[in-house]
Amino acid sequence: MSKKAILAFSGGLDTSVVVKYLQEKYNMDVVTVTVDVGQGDDQKKITAKAKKLGVKKHYNVDAKKEFVSDFIFPAIKANSLYQKKYCLATALARPLIAKKVLEIAKKEKVTALAHGCSGKGNDQVRFDVTFSSGSNLPIIAPIRDLNLDRKTELKFAKKHGIKIDSVAKKFSIDQNLWGRAIEGGVLEDAYKEPPNDAFIWVKTKNLAANPSYLEIQFEKGVPVAVDGKNLNPIALIEYINKKAGAAGIGIVDHIEDRVVGIKSREVYETPAATCLIEAHSDLEKMVHTKHENKFKSLIDDEWSWLVYSGLWEDPLREDLDAFIDQTQKRVSGTVRLKLYNGNLRVVGRKSKYSLYSHKVATYGKGSTFDQKLAKGFVELWGMQSTEANKLQRKR
Ligand code: ARG
Repeated sequence: MSKKAILAFSGGLDTSVVVKYLQEKYNMDVVTVTVDVGQGDDQKKITAKAKKLGVKKHYNVDAKKEFVSDFIFPAIKANSLYQKKYCLATALARPLIAKKVLEIAKKEKVTALAHGCSGKGNDQVRFDVTFSSGSNLPIIAPIRDLNLDRKTELKFAKKHGIKIDSVAKKFSIDQNLWGRAIEGGVLEDAYKEPPNDAFIWVKTKNLAANPSYLEIQFEKGVPVAVDGKNLNPIALIEYINKKAGAAGIGIVDHIEDRVVGIKSREVYETPAATCLIEAHSDLEKMVHTKHENKFKSLIDDEWSWLVYSGLWEDPLREDLDAFIDQTQKRVSGTVRLKLYNGNLRVVGRKSKYSLYSHKVATYGKGSTFDQKLAKGFVELWGMQSTEANKLQRKR
């Protein structure tokens, strides 16, 4: 029986090189799968590229809807920002891509699962764990197994007539509906400001002279309308990416702790994710009690850490989702954001479940809050702290 590998194929440098390696060095037939998670690539071109590389069969799978409903929406509910900054665009897409590859792997009766990840990044973890959770087939990762570096890959690509676009020669890019990750090249100097040509989604020059506003309506923790328009989830995210990106919103630049222990300088463009998470977490503060707010932020952090770390398949993720879903019942309302010159600010929020009471909070006349009661409360609240300090003073 001939050996046959199935490969998650983006059409980029890594996966193109991997097709050839699998054929030539591993002596395998290759089936490729491109999963559309909103990366905006031309599927026809990718299919043609796969065919030109001599694959036995190529599949295109449109997973955009599933990506939003089953991955992005849970991330919004969890206010998910790994290390307070990264919206997990790549991290969320990988388990979905791997699942789609597994579905076709069964049909195609392949003998191995392949991916184009290096041994230095997080994506290998995400692919390996999802593959191994759903199958016993061996995993082949030529770039990791053969310890390939980017320069060698570029040379190999040239030798095999694989066309690489000019951006890919400068940076390593991964993008989908939820964000665009830019790595490598000049960005590897952590002190150097990213050049403007690293950015495609977010405008960095000639920004509008006047602010614009974004009004996002949430229903049970997920966005359902924007600027008064009921849009389907994909269109809604695309709309915010465009509008906020044009206002210069959504560039993230930070040092990230990878699963494998490496620290890396990561640059992202995530306009919609930045706005939606800012708005969602603001709305939560209005409808949740202080106890819910405090506890949920621990759960949110754990969720982000788990998903970043490639453990989407761990039962803990579903356990956390159950809690998070329970908390979203009252997260309905509207948040108003002001976008100006690359700055984002929540300037208003309202909800029928709001726990904010003007009558209680007002410093004006007629508040229903009897401030005289506060004296006794503060005395008891601070009792142990003040006692401890009194004792200290005596000693
Ligand atoms: N650091 C991010 C993550 O691990 C982004 C990775 C982007 N991948 C890439 N091939 N450029 O999720």
